[in-house]
Amino acid sequence: MSEKAELHYNGQVFEVPVVKGTEDELALDISKLRAQTGLITLDPGFKNTGSTQSAITFLDGEKGILRYRGFPIEQLAEKSTFLEVAYLIIYGELPIGEELKRWREDIAHHTLIHEDFKVILEGFPSNSHPMGVLSSLVTSLTAFYPESIDPTHSSPEMYKSIVRLMAKLPTLAAWAYKNEIGQPIIYPKNNLDYCSNFLRMMFSTPAEEYDIDPVVSNALNKLLILHAEHEQNCSTSTVRIVGSSHASLYASVSSGINALWGPLHGGANQAVIEMLENIKADGGDADKYLAKAKDKNDSFRLMGFGHRVYKNFDPRARIIKKAADEVLSKLGVNDPVLGIAQKLEEAALKDEYFVERKLYPNVDFYSGIIYRALGIPTNMFTVMFALGRLPGWVAQWKEMRTNSEPIGRPRQVYTGYNERDYVDVSKR
Ligand code: CMC
Repeated sequence: MSEKAELHYNGQVFEVPVVKGTEDELALDISKLRAQTGLITLDPGFKNTGSTQSAITFLDGEKGILRYRGFPIEQLAEKSTFLEVAYLIIYGELPIGEELKRWREDIAHHTLIHEDFKVILEGFPSNSHPMGVLSSLVTSLTAFYPESIDPTHSSPEMYKSIVRLMAKLPTLAAWAYKNEIGQPIIYPKNNLDYCSNFLRMMFSTPAEEYDIDPVVSNALNKLLILHAEHEQNCSTSTVRIVGSSHASLYASVSSGINALWGPLHGGANQAVIEMLENIKADGGDADKYLAKAKDKNDSFRLMGFGHRVYKNFDPRARIIKKAADEVLSKLGVNDPVLGIAQKLEEAALKDEYFVERKLYPNVDFYSGIIYRALGIPTNMFTVMFALGRLPGWVAQWKEMRTNSEPIGRPRQVYTGYNERDYVDVSKR
């Protein structure tokens, strides 16, 4: 017999079904609550609200578990490539043999961008933040590929729309960067792997070819895998809710890019480095900033600390910390800002305020450090996160459409004025 909870309200008892996930996660199914009781639930920030049932990612924030389609993140980060993981997340299984070959080749084949995009790009002021440019360019893809507006009719159409987006996002991201620094764009080179191709488009110039260092492209591969999917976070929920109106895949992903931009979400990796630079400029006193973070009258927060769901440790942070140490020593980086990061981390991990509130360094504390060591400019950090998160957004959008989920439309508890009559303001 399936489990039920009881809600006692207004002298009546209502039965609320309990839903169980494959990892024994339990949820109250309140989909009929309002119809039966007249009540809605109030849960600002959706901290206790499951918006969907999803088969893509399992995450246990208390135990620090993260698995894509059942595979532990530690194994994927160690053994896999970003394109394999992307296929796994989107299609449910790791690609093997011909499937993997075709996926890689199809993505390589679609990296070029329509030449008219250059006109759009030139319209942006040259110092525009690359996240704003990227989200606009991704929406613009819809105009160039109208068949992508609703690719749900057939799997070949869906596959092609997904391949195009996976292939073109690194090109668009690199072009957004070139626009920002006022350099000519660099075209993709399809005999390179996904990460190397991106790095070359970022750092080559017509005057000088970028020398691809395998340490750098391997580190990037790992970072993209770690960011590839994270279930119903702010940007992914945005993608699902925008897509639930049957807005196109590209428009939905563009909204996800905008949601990711904020400093409390994907923008945190940029905020971490900016914070460290500010601390350095202010004399490098980590303790002073720790005190500021604890002061309730000070809005300062320690960027890169705390997480909405990981309350003991962020498993991605563990992997990435190790990767950060390797990259820094292999590349021989000696950066004073990184010394401040280390001091801050050590002090916060011992501090009662942070320990009590279970505030540990999150993935973005270290990803910012690695990106800096790889030579990626600070305001491209969130773009890097977007490149990594793309498969997650695509998979969640596809799952939502395939399951014919209803349009997202939360309710609210109104706290404004009661009805009042219009007063002619000109007679006042
Ligand atoms: N520095 C100082 N105090 C903090 C911090 C911080 N970074 N994060 C949370 N707190 C305090 C907060 O003031 C509150 O204290 P109190 O209980 O005394 O009022 C308590 O910890 C709980 O905070 P919360 O805001 O209710 O926690 P949340 O789960 O809603 O927020 C968070 C999670 C990530 C938004 C928040 O920890 C934060 O702002 N961190 C800094 C930004 C950051 O690094 N974001 C990246 C997240 S990882 C990337 C991703 O997956 O998107």
